Amino acid sequence: MRRGMAWWHDLEPLKQEALAAFDAARDLAALDQTKAAWLGSHGRLTALMKQLGSLPKEERPAAGKAINAVKAELEAALVARRRELELEAARPKVPFDFTLPGRRRPVGRLHPLTQVVEDIVRSFRRLGFAVADGPELEDEYHCFDALNTPADHPARDTQDTFYLPDAPGPHGRWLLRTHTSSVQIRVMESQPPPVRIIVPGRVYRRDNADATHNPTFHQIEGLYVDRGVTVGDLKGTVEHVFRELMGRDVRIRFRPHYFSYTEPSYEIDFSNALTRKMGREWLEIAGCGMVNPVVFETVGYDPEVWTGWAFGFGIERIAMLRYGIPDIRLFYENDLRFLHQF
Ligand code: DAH
Repeated sequence: MRRGMAWWHDLEPLKQEALAAFDAARDLAALDQTKAAWLGSHGRLTALMKQLGSLPKEERPAAGKAINAVKAELEAALVARRRELELEAARPKVPFDFTLPGRRRPVGRLHPLTQVVEDIVRSFRRLGFAVADGPELEDEYHCFDALNTPADHPARDTQDTFYLPDAPGPHGRWLLRTHTSSVQIRVMESQPPPVRIIVPGRVYRRDNADATHNPTFHQIEGLYVDRGVTVGDLKGTVEHVFRELMGRDVRIRFRPHYFSYTEPSYEIDFSNALTRKMGREWLEIAGCGMVNPVVFETVGYDPEVWTGWAFGFGIERIAMLRYGIPDIRLFYENDLRFLHQF
């Protein structure tokens, strides 16, 4: 300390020494040590502050101000140096070339059947339909009886339906559902009309697999119940959805048919450039009709008040048409060479 001038008049050399020490700290642990050596309870700057009390009274405010200014500067320098060292610590240890091309993560894609289902569902959603679901393991009542399908109907034959060998449940034998129409019953049992649902799902039949059959396949069921519903509503809706799905040139034809749960009933034939290319003007793609009043009575809807239509499409049929797939079995083999094309 120079004679004649109080020690606190020139703190600059001290400050420079501290700043140099912070810079010299090579990692966070070293920086903490340096911080303690200067600003800790036994640190050098702290020691100076303790000396303030022994200064003449009139010097104390100016001295305090000078020391505090140094302290503030050191603290700011510490924060800055800490940030630098933290960044350094986070940097990869081995040199890294940030210009290398990224690593491609292989994302899967939707199965063509899923794509068709999603497109159909999207179309119907826009019309105000909700998606409903039901069990694949069904009972005879929901799959057949409640749909007005009598015990001697061929669909109920053991040659056509997978029955479970165990004792019958409360609603007849257990079986794998042969169609999604069983969900019509389950939905109507569980809610009052009006109803506006579609039901995509998996169904089972005792068919031998060939180019157009498989024991497991997929359907999408529709059910619309309200007052004053007509065949015109049914036809307009089906036509609209198929145009959205397959293009503007689609034509739809209703051909009279028989289903026990609809009256009248129709099969829906479909025609567009693709069917003609396959050498066929019309291709059958669905069954439909006006809900039979007997079915309404079974589920407790008043047939004098409520009317409705229903349909069931085969998803595979539509997907084969849409993508020009010649053999239904390709859908189930999970061969990536096939699946990657959609
Ligand atoms: N369930 C019928 C089948 O699997 C398709 C069907 C026909 C569904 C008429 C319906 C309908 O809802 O009204 O072949």
